[in-house]
Amino acid sequence: MCGIVGGVAERNVAAVLVEGLKRLEYRGYDSAGVALISRDGQLLRRRSTGKVSELAESLIQQPLIGQLGIAHTRWATHGAPTEANAHPHFSRGEVAVVHNGIIENHEALRKELQGLGYAFASQTDTEVIAHLLHYKLQEQGELTAALKATVRQLQGAYGLAAIYLGQPDRLVAARSGSPLVVGLGLGENFVASDQLALRQVTDRFMYLEEGDIAEITRDTVQLWNHEGQPVQREVVRYHEGAEAADKGEYRHFMLKEIHEQPAVVQRTLEGRLGQQQVLVPSFGPQAAQLFGRVRNVQIVACGTSYHAGMVARYWLEGLAGIPCQVEVASEFRYRKVVVQPDTLFVTISQSGETADTLAALRNAKALGYLGSLAICNVGISSLVRESDLTLLTLAGPEIGVASTKAFTTQLVALMLLTLAIGQVRGTLQAGLEAELVAELRRLPVRLGEALAMDTTVEQVAQLFAEKHHTLFLGRGAQFPVAMEGALKLKEISYIHAEAYPAGELKHGPLALVDADMPVVTVAPNNALLEKLKSNLQEVRARGGELVVFADAQAQLSNGEGTTVVSMPHIHDALAPILYTVPLQLLSYYVAVLKGTDVDQPRNLAKSVTVE
Ligand code: G6P
Repeated sequence: MCGIVGGVAERNVAAVLVEGLKRLEYRGYDSAGVALISRDGQLLRRRSTGKVSELAESLIQQPLIGQLGIAHTRWATHGAPTEANAHPHFSRGEVAVVHNGIIENHEALRKELQGLGYAFASQTDTEVIAHLLHYKLQEQGELTAALKATVRQLQGAYGLAAIYLGQPDRLVAARSGSPLVVGLGLGENFVASDQLALRQVTDRFMYLEEGDIAEITRDTVQLWNHEGQPVQREVVRYHEGAEAADKGEYRHFMLKEIHEQPAVVQRTLEGRLGQQQVLVPSFGPQAAQLFGRVRNVQIVACGTSYHAGMVARYWLEGLAGIPCQVEVASEFRYRKVVVQPDTLFVTISQSGETADTLAALRNAKALGYLGSLAICNVGISSLVRESDLTLLTLAGPEIGVASTKAFTTQLVALMLLTLAIGQVRGTLQAGLEAELVAELRRLPVRLGEALAMDTTVEQVAQLFAEKHHTLFLGRGAQFPVAMEGALKLKEISYIHAEAYPAGELKHGPLALVDADMPVVTVAPNNALLEKLKSNLQEVRARGGELVVFADAQAQLSNGEGTTVVSMPHIHDALAPILYTVPLQLLSYYVAVLKGTDVDQPRNLAKSVTVE
């Protein structure tokens, strides 16, 4: 998804902006650009389709120098990914704008501005902001006032930054529905859509709130809220080492992040487990009181986070006896929902900025839920700020677009939630909580054992390199694990992958099974194992090639057309977390064999901040 970086300094900011864009590459984009105002009063611009490295190279060959500038990575929504549609967008060579989000009334504004004599050079919704800002500058005579007047006419979502040739000492920014952060330096200040972009220049950040407008000079930052009142926002110091954004010894961020799972799961558990119980206050001071009233849970999320929610449904109903519904946010937000009394509304999100999930939360507030809980990886995200309770997953920055460590830490958080609600409501089977707390403590070690299968899985990946379709099967809480496995494979290897509950095989997908369609199955040693074995026979009888990740005690063995990878034994309740790991490794190695862009798969974005 699009990224913004801007800065005002004594030094040339071009290099800082480009480095910022590089750090935002993980969000996904298809073109990039930078605009600067030079000391001698020129508004300069360089844009390119393709990678930020190409833009950087062009700036090395033919440098642009300026002490004030804005830059952008664009993920096309309105208009193709061409140079003309890349940001920054100009108006009359005096104003430059970068924008994340979508302006919903752009067509009406475009007509209006064309009527006022403005010529459009792109198909983007963003260009209307540049011209409108230019027009308002004529009325207001000053950039900040013009921006305030401009945003009053914008409908939709935006995080934006702008500069103006007439006031070359400042940049202005506005946030509504798309995140922005100000980075505070010494004698220089910056703005970005994600603090990650600015960590090379500062560790002090000020997060804009919804509706905020910012005016930023080298020495000052002034903010106004949506009512136009001057406001202060807390300055937050970022502590984690900037090295989190480096690949280290790994070839890809995705592989690094897969291997971080034992450590980040450990971190997510820390301080949240008592001797034999989950510590309920780790969900927030009002958690015990709120959980005591919970009779139903509604989970809403997107993508991988949605799959985590689907696993949680098996846990909440199966272990804690709490009815649970799970829905993708883009559906939930537009549907008339009947809310059961005493329902806790739970969102799950790595980024905490996913537009549909945020919109679902905002809608939910008017629907009479008991309260809201965000399970999120970014503590300063919109989702966290707008929820009553939060449980942070402590996965650290996840750079690979395909989510891995964020998913397993979400599952851990959801297991904690299941036990916490069950504990407070008294609905857990006697002894179960103590048993699972002990198992959770052992989980990082088990994950390490699963990761040790790395080279075995790499060999298995060879079976898939030439295939065009695959089927993933699972039963019970392993069905969402199969869904997540299929999602990973399609996201990064571009092989068509579908997931089915194994019991549905006969009702359709079996028709597709032949030697060209490998079938991947996750088979822990549980009550459903024997049924699963029959499903596997059905596949073999049709010449289908099987890859089975099975519990060491499952008594499944290698044979013709059947590859069994033996998994460490684990408590059935935690099996979905463990069995996710080999499926992550499988898609990673298949993608490597296929030579695809593992960390930045085509057409996908890390953080989907528009609808
Ligand atoms: C995008 C990402 C996925 C992610 C989904 C939801 O599609 O590529 O990896 O699962 O958004 O994102 P969230 O940040 O809300 O978990």
